[in-house]
Amino acid sequence: QNDRDSQFILSDFAKNYYQDILFNHEQGKSIGLPYLQHRGLGLPLIKKFELGYSLEAWDGFTSKALAQGYQQKFLESTGLTIVKEDKKYDRFRARVMFPIHNVSGRVIGFGARTLKSNDKTPKYLNSPESEIYHKSDVLYGLFQAKNAIRGQDVCYLVEGYLDVLSLSQGGLENVVASSGTSLTEGQIKLIGRYTKNITVLYDGDAAGIKASLRGIDLILEGGLNVNVVTFPQGDDPDSYIRKVGDVAFKEYVEAHAQDFISFKTNLYARDAKDNPVKKAEAIREIVSSIAKIPDSIKRQVFLKQCSAIFGIDEEVLVAEFNKIYQQNR
Ligand code: UTP
Ligand code: MN
Ligand code: MN
Ligand code: MN
Ligand code: MN
Repeated sequence: QNDRDSQFILSDFAKNYYQDILFNHEQGKSIGLPYLQHRGLGLPLIKKFELGYSLEAWDGFTSKALAQGYQQKFLESTGLTIVKEDKKYDRFRARVMFPIHNVSGRVIGFGARTLKSNDKTPKYLNSPESEIYHKSDVLYGLFQAKNAIRGQDVCYLVEGYLDVLSLSQGGLENVVASSGTSLTEGQIKLIGRYTKNITVLYDGDAAGIKASLRGIDLILEGGLNVNVVTFPQGDDPDSYIRKVGDVAFKEYVEAHAQDFISFKTNLYARDAKDNPVKKAEAIREIVSSIAKIPDSIKRQVFLKQCSAIFGIDEEVLVAEFNKIYQQNR
């Protein structure tokens, strides 16, 4: 048995432990479970994603695991236990636990949400990197979503754990989140095994727009197709589906999915109609995304679309494109 095996076995034990707390311990039953229900999550979903709860105590998990014979070095290397000045304590305390699975369904780490709404403690904690948990190559929910992603031939990409859970419960099961990191090339490659189409559904705030712009370029660079859906200011996919219901949410996503050119056009050119400087800026933004696409035929198609939208001579656009394209090489 090597170290990775030991970490897998310990992570599975921890997952079962936190589930047991959620369903059978007083704190889980009176605090954890009501919180999840108040967030609109039902038992089938809670069980499907193997959600759990961690005790308030300093070392509830650590002492249990040690008593069961798990070695301290693996408690430390998975980050479940923190050792400081010879004192051992649990990383995750009084939090809802979201096990993170690899694509074959083994638990490799955890996300954990506090139930408190102050800023004394971070809202979410995540497991640190370990031999089995490489954040940049993991997508939350992919194990549960992969068949639906293949079947629907599209993957919904959201920001958070709760977004994944609410959408999955609402029947949009082909949904994943990059948790604990911003989107990476490795995560896009991972999605690319199941579909070439990604629809980005990020939060309706400035950070969400910024992350969408970055995501678009990464996805295009990875050779995948990207659409974007934006939500009203202050909403994220979870709050929005809770507000409007599953059916209206699906309709909203279908009606508001824009390709990256329309998304960027609307974003940059909204008030640029009669402003040639802003219009030029918008065109350059779009052309720079087109320059990320590895497939030259796709690049041509998008350049044509862009020249039609802005009424710019295609040759002028291609000249601008070539300039940006050269700079990027
Ligand atoms: P959000 O702040 O949008 O949280 O962060 P959320 O998912 O909507 O959570 P709720 O609805 O308030 O419960 C999006 C994601 O960013 C990561 C988490 O993965 C979270 O789901 N995050 C956020 C952290 O890792 N740490 C934090 O302190 C906050
Ligand atoms: Mn790593
Ligand atoms: Mn946010
Ligand atoms: Mn959010
Ligand atoms: Mn949210």
